[in-house]
Amino acid sequence: MCENKWEALKQKAAQQGCMYIHDGMKVGLGSGSTMVYALKYLGELVKAGLRIQAVCSSDKTEALARELKLPMIEDPSKISLDINLDGVDQIDPHGNVIKGGGAALTREKMLAQWAAKTIWIMDERKIVDKLDQYLLPVEVLPFNHEHMRTVLITMGYQVTLRKHQGQPLITDNGGLIFDVRIPIGKTMSQAHQELIQLAGVVETGYFEKRLSTAVIAGSEGIKIID
Ligand code: 5RP
Repeated sequence: MCENKWEALKQKAAQQGCMYIHDGMKVGLGSGSTMVYALKYLGELVKAGLRIQAVCSSDKTEALARELKLPMIEDPSKISLDINLDGVDQIDPHGNVIKGGGAALTREKMLAQWAAKTIWIMDERKIVDKLDQYLLPVEVLPFNHEHMRTVLITMGYQVTLRKHQGQPLITDNGGLIFDVRIPIGKTMSQAHQELIQLAGVVETGYFEKRLSTAVIAGSEGIKIID
């Protein structure tokens, strides 16, 4: 399938995902290229009269949301969300998800936890049988991160510091991202449980299935997994 067909599928998933957003809702907005389609579509819906209040998972999403005049939740003490919309990097048949390709995983997980429900939007390339063979993005504090890397390697992980234009990528939180390959025989869930215990690890990109629906656009139409 050529690239613009995949883009069309992302757009379809994004528009279908927006159908879960109703008038008056407080909405979490994730990050990534599928979310860009969702934001643009939401911008049209808001222009046509839909009333929402949004909170964004990344500076990039917030910049676009403000450009599109999506109203923001201005009182930061009141961010209980009716719904959260976001893309994924991988999803397994149980609805567990890996995220963090856009380095926004920590705030994305916060929004997912604050929301009554999350709608994952994606094209069908994101479906995998098992998550365990994929890289797990992990946000860490910059303090002595080389030592942290050594600690993780000693624990059996393969660790790559994510870079952007030759320099360590700095997240919106001032953190760094390790892309971690987990040892054979360990599940993503076990790796998450182990890594999240370590001081200096802010969050991992493993999202266990919780109050979510996946909207998956493929060549044979839209598939919904609740
Ligand atoms: C950002 C993410 C993105 O949601 C994920 O990478 C999906 O992006 P895209 O829609 O571009 O495939 O996790 O941290």
